[in-house]
Amino acid sequence: MKKRKVYLDNSATTYTRKEAVDAMMPYFYDIYGNASSVHKFGQDAKNALTDARIKFAELINAQYPDEIIFTSCGTESDNMAIMGVLKSSEGKHIIISSIEHHAVLHTCGYLEKNGYKVDYIPVDSSGKVMLNVLKEKITDETAVISIMHANNEIGVIEPIEEISQIVSECNKNRKFPVIFHTDAVQTAGKIKLDVQKLGVDLLSVSAHKFYGPKGIGILYVKKGTKISPILHGGHHEHGLKPGTENIASIIGMTKALELANGEIEKENQKYNKLREKLKNGIIAKIPQSIINTDFSNSVPNVLNVSFKSIEGESLLLMLDMEGIAVSTGSACASGSTEPSHVLQAIGLDPVTAQGAIRFSLGKQNTEEDIDYVLEVLPKMVEKVRKMSPVWNNRQD
Ligand SMILES: Cc1ncc(COP(=O)(O)O)c(C=O)c1O
Repeated sequence: MKKRKVYLDNSATTYTRKEAVDAMMPYFYDIYGNASSVHKFGQDAKNALTDARIKFAELINAQYPDEIIFTSCGTESDNMAIMGVLKSSEGKHIIISSIEHHAVLHTCGYLEKNGYKVDYIPVDSSGKVMLNVLKEKITDETAVISIMHANNEIGVIEPIEEISQIVSECNKNRKFPVIFHTDAVQTAGKIKLDVQKLGVDLLSVSAHKFYGPKGIGILYVKKGTKISPILHGGHHEHGLKPGTENIASIIGMTKALELANGEIEKENQKYNKLREKLKNGIIAKIPQSIINTDFSNSVPNVLNVSFKSIEGESLLLMLDMEGIAVSTGSACASGSTEPSHVLQAIGLDPVTAQGAIRFSLGKQNTEEDIDYVLEVLPKMVEKVRKMSPVWNNRQD
């Protein structure tokens, strides 16, 4: 089969779609004013910003446009959510899941070293948060709970609505409320976000995961939620995110989400089909492959597989030479040799976790891409395994 370029790392980032780029262009050359300036140039920019805020609020079913705070990325939104709440709260206790993205995990690690208490809620073998443990961990000191909407490595979808109910139940009788945040970076554009239905106080989104530009995101802040800024400067974004707004990227992000929301059903159908084909092909052609993604409860574009007796990084590099881009665990963790905290949390031993590859599908992928992967991948796995003493000395 002819060599081709196959990008299967769409959970790390996506290309920026043309419609988003086209929508952004006027804001580089024509409408380039500072939205805080009083002159016409500034007011034109401000109007565009206001319209985008209204539109974005509609897209995630926020009640008020002012609940949308434009940020510079998902990481900033996550930091702002957790640290911003703590700065406003009397509580010193945080609850997160054990499979959060590093944007949440490392923020909490930092806070733990600075006098806060963090509880990490375990997950079951599919990656779902154990709600009974979560319930037990809430104390009078709990200020914030942060549980991701879908996991970036295995795609599992967390029961956000159920957690909201638990939180609102416990908030009936407290000195200060527990604030509930979800990181929806991996679901925006794949699940139609509805912040009111989800029942969350705070929600993070990042544009570069749904064909918008990089370096732009939002934090949804439900009206009335007590939160303080973590950066200090001007009065932009209701004082929560000081700094001149990146209007072009805000416009591009809003356009990208509008289009993605309209395509969810069609795209997800395609992902389901391609993912099934990839999984079946892997199982049929590659012995000792372990599927780490729960197909009954995950975003449909993610497939995480462990190949026994393999170093995921070696396989990644060999696939790269054949034009196939995948990732081991999360992109942010690649380059490090630590086995994935997510895969270990769902019960994989460190060696099996090291042998995992994440395939994440996107708009550009076709059946021919999957055919190519299914032709190349078994050969590469065999090659890597031939170099593995563990594989060569196995007893089966
Ligand atoms: C679940 C999740 N949260 C947060 C982030 C960070 O987003 P950003 O790259 O916009 O900072 C990512 C990126 O991979 C992610 O997958």
